[in-house]
Amino acid sequence: MRTIHYSTLGLVNTRAMLQQAMDEQFAVPAYNFNNMEQLQAIVTGCVQSASPVILQVSGSARDYIGTAFLPHLAAAAVDLARETGLPIPIALHLDHGSSFEMAKDCIDSGFSSVMIDASHHSFADNVALTRQVVQYAHAHEVTVEAELGVLAGIEDEVTAEHSSYTRPEEVERFLEQTGVDSLAISIGTSHGAYKFKLQPGQEPPPLRFDILAAIEQRVPGFPIVLHGASSVTREHVAMINQYGGKMDNAAGIPEEQLRRAAASAVCKINIDSDGRLAMTAMIRKIFAEKPGEFDPRKYLGPARDELIKMVLHKNNAVLGSAGRVVA
Ligand code: G3H
Ligand code: 13P
Ligand code: ZN
Repeated sequence: MRTIHYSTLGLVNTRAMLQQAMDEQFAVPAYNFNNMEQLQAIVTGCVQSASPVILQVSGSARDYIGTAFLPHLAAAAVDLARETGLPIPIALHLDHGSSFEMAKDCIDSGFSSVMIDASHHSFADNVALTRQVVQYAHAHEVTVEAELGVLAGIEDEVTAEHSSYTRPEEVERFLEQTGVDSLAISIGTSHGAYKFKLQPGQEPPPLRFDILAAIEQRVPGFPIVLHGASSVTREHVAMINQYGGKMDNAAGIPEEQLRRAAASAVCKINIDSDGRLAMTAMIRKIFAEKPGEFDPRKYLGPARDELIKMVLHKNNAVLGSAGRVVA
């Protein structure tokens, strides 16, 4: 693996973009990607809406793309934005890093930001691992996100009682002891497309804005991150089901709640599932309507367009990140 510093790829760390989001009360979109079409769609949508962007890669996405390709894809994303004449700030972020070695590898190979997710460990172990990553990262001008509290998996009850919410009383101590740059918290979101088990007509329970407010009060001005923030767009789930898929009971976080979070100390909102749904819905539609089609460009192209539409909608109408980059 070649050693590369992110600045040579034209990337930036997340410090300035999260500070702007805090000052101007919006959230920076953090979109996950696994392939070229997703990356092109995310960057195109963010340039068209003049939004900063955090490109997120999970450990398994990194394995899928391969470390030979990843820095070049990131550099191409920067070039794509520059060519449009609006060079938006772009960060490349490791999502849910699970070890010091993984975080170090990413820092050494062009990432500008890393998450170390030790939230399932004890408080002391979480602090120790996070601090180790922060020391290495900050020596390379890389920003670090950590997590306190555990997000629920697929929830059994509407009340989300299987998650372990972040304890506001632990936050100050955690920040002091780790020196981390942003903190992911657990206030009722969860990963994936099946966040709540709802009866027909039932609405998802509200996020725990009281916990968020208590955290903001203890650490005013500190950037908070929301994982598991896909809305699980009904339109895309309906398309998937209409064209041969089966995604019964899929449900996500209502947009109104995300708008409220984005206007608070939540400065970064993570979206993966909604992007997967958008592309899958369009690919299923094309396969159903044109069963003879076998040119990947004829289904990946429209799927990419559908993802651009989704990014524009999120940035404009949910996160408030549109129009924040001025030429
Ligand atoms: O938070 C997890 C992300 O949605 C990434 O998921 O490990 O399937 O890439 P993945
Ligand atoms: P979703 O599954 O809700 O898109 O969450 C993505 C996420 O948190 C990535 O870290
Ligand atoms: Zn996550």
